[in-house]
Amino acid sequence: MIKSLSEFKQASAQAKENPDGFWSEVASEFQWKAPWKQTLDFDFSNPEVKWFVGGKLNITENCLDRHLATQPNKTAILFEPNDPAEAAQHITYKELHKRVCQTANMLKANGAKKGDRICIYMPMVPELAIAVLACARIGAIHSVVFAGFSATALAARINDASCSMLLTADGGFRGAKTIALKEIADEALVSCSTVNCCLVLQRTQQVVQWNSIDKWWHEELEKVDDNCPAEVMDSEDPLFILYTSGSTGKPKGMVHTCGGYMVYTAYTFKNVFQCQPNDVYWCTADIGWITGHSYIVYGPLVNGATTVMFEGVPSYPAFDRFWEVCAKHKITHFYTAPTAIRALEKHPTSLVEKHDLSSLKVLGSVGEPINAEAWHWYDEHVGKHNCPIVDTWWQTETGGILISSLAGVTPQKPTFATLPMPGVQVVLLNNEGDEIEGEGEGILAIKHPWPSIARTIWGDHERYKNVYFSAYPGYYFAGDGALRDAEGNYRITGRVDDVVIVSGHNLGTAPIENAINEHPEVVESAVVGYPHDIKGNALCTYVIVRDMGVDSSIIEKEIREEVAKTIGPIAKPDRILVVSGLPKTRSGKIMRRILRKLAAGEHDQLGDISTLLNPEIVEEIKRQNS
Ligand code: PRX
Repeated sequence: MIKSLSEFKQASAQAKENPDGFWSEVASEFQWKAPWKQTLDFDFSNPEVKWFVGGKLNITENCLDRHLATQPNKTAILFEPNDPAEAAQHITYKELHKRVCQTANMLKANGAKKGDRICIYMPMVPELAIAVLACARIGAIHSVVFAGFSATALAARINDASCSMLLTADGGFRGAKTIALKEIADEALVSCSTVNCCLVLQRTQQVVQWNSIDKWWHEELEKVDDNCPAEVMDSEDPLFILYTSGSTGKPKGMVHTCGGYMVYTAYTFKNVFQCQPNDVYWCTADIGWITGHSYIVYGPLVNGATTVMFEGVPSYPAFDRFWEVCAKHKITHFYTAPTAIRALEKHPTSLVEKHDLSSLKVLGSVGEPINAEAWHWYDEHVGKHNCPIVDTWWQTETGGILISSLAGVTPQKPTFATLPMPGVQVVLLNNEGDEIEGEGEGILAIKHPWPSIARTIWGDHERYKNVYFSAYPGYYFAGDGALRDAEGNYRITGRVDDVVIVSGHNLGTAPIENAINEHPEVVESAVVGYPHDIKGNALCTYVIVRDMGVDSSIIEKEIREEVAKTIGPIAKPDRILVVSGLPKTRSGKIMRRILRKLAAGEHDQLGDISTLLNPEIVEEIKRQNS
């Protein structure tokens, strides 16, 4: 563990000078079944990245078996249910190992084998983490789909990866609501011919329909034992697929592989959070997102930490649930999203103050830029000016944290993610693709691969090359803008493409437009993001309808329903404006830059609109806005 600023500087210098030597040394701390023959094999001109080439391992041996001798009775997963009246569960490393092995055997008994894709659509209960690890144990590739996605979105993801199995639950608890997961899964599976087995966990006990491929999880589990040797995996065998939004309609199945992902998530967890043996670490994300994969499951478990899984929401039963749970479990590390902080900041501080938060040592932020107000509120009311805040910048594609301070070790700066991790060579580019030196603002790009960079997009390596490596040849293009101060600290300014981060969720505008265009009355639509004081960004949709005389409130309602059905409730637009046209260039391209300014109410900052084919439409939208 890096313990001082000088050690950090030394590690960064060493990693820059000799990346292979640096990462080889880091990787040697883990349990391998066979050593690697080459540390890194890469070519950014024809993007292929391989780390620890020829190495053999199983990540679950590093998460579980390795700790059995030293800390079998330490809590691995601390589960806090949605309902505070339901008892929390403390699952020890020994017990987790046993349950993962047994679940792995259940998967095998139902036909799963190495290389198969298994889709997981589950609530935030321990069995979700166990299912993820069980897949990894047998070498099946897990594809977790966030349980807030719709049937259509689930089906698209299952079909994209030709999953052979679906793991789900009867339902899930979320605040005062229950979500009928099995019902949604049933609807999805109607169009998924590759799935031949659906294992259903009982969580809510609600009534469900039963199909010929369905089996109850608890019944299947009873039929198998808990002896399951770990499958031998190559470093570069896929560990999982996780979908993220892109600039086009189709989600991108990012593929992460076993060796590099393990090394990097474990290394960054250890150094960013600086967890000590008796600490209790809580990341409030859902395992359906990359944050949950890397920093609820794999990173903490490889490090032998206690990781909290929370099933509920910050507002249930009241807006002090986060603080209540922190006090109840004596949380030492609390890692959440700015959107949650902004939502909680709107409530009286007495809700925070009534709980004893003295156990807290480190706070974290992830998923979107944290604004100054939220940063200071977090620092003052939650951290009591006593807890370093790590603002961690990274992506589904990067697998692990690329830019962040190390808690209490490297300096923090409000609203800045600060410095790149050792081994991460961040640059700022201008529009011509030249590197900017010193202080400045530009496009964030990365010059050299790090071990957990996604290796491909499932089934579409061309798209991988195009999206990440063709905009600025020789660099990984992250899609974010950033500025850098004189000390080299980075502040992320937001997306520079057609992805909008709404409440920390990464949403492509293209798939939302595709969904809206399905409405029979809609001729054309354009979705843009605009600043929102809680969500960070909200979505504004401009729609052209066939009959301008129709009742727009009905259309608006139907559009929201359509989006919820096709993607999920998280993508529902906040504002919908029925317009007679969209500002377009002479070549017919929608001028989204102008729509973004209009949505933000920045009517006098539209810039040059002389190239527009239809400038009158801008005036019309301005009138509607005011
Ligand atoms: O725009 C950046 C923003 O989230 C995007 C990645 O989203 P996703 O793949 O869903 O992963 C989110 C969790 C890692 C980035 O391109 N982002 C993430 N973290 C930060 C951030 N923006 C500013 N500051 C951050 N700390």
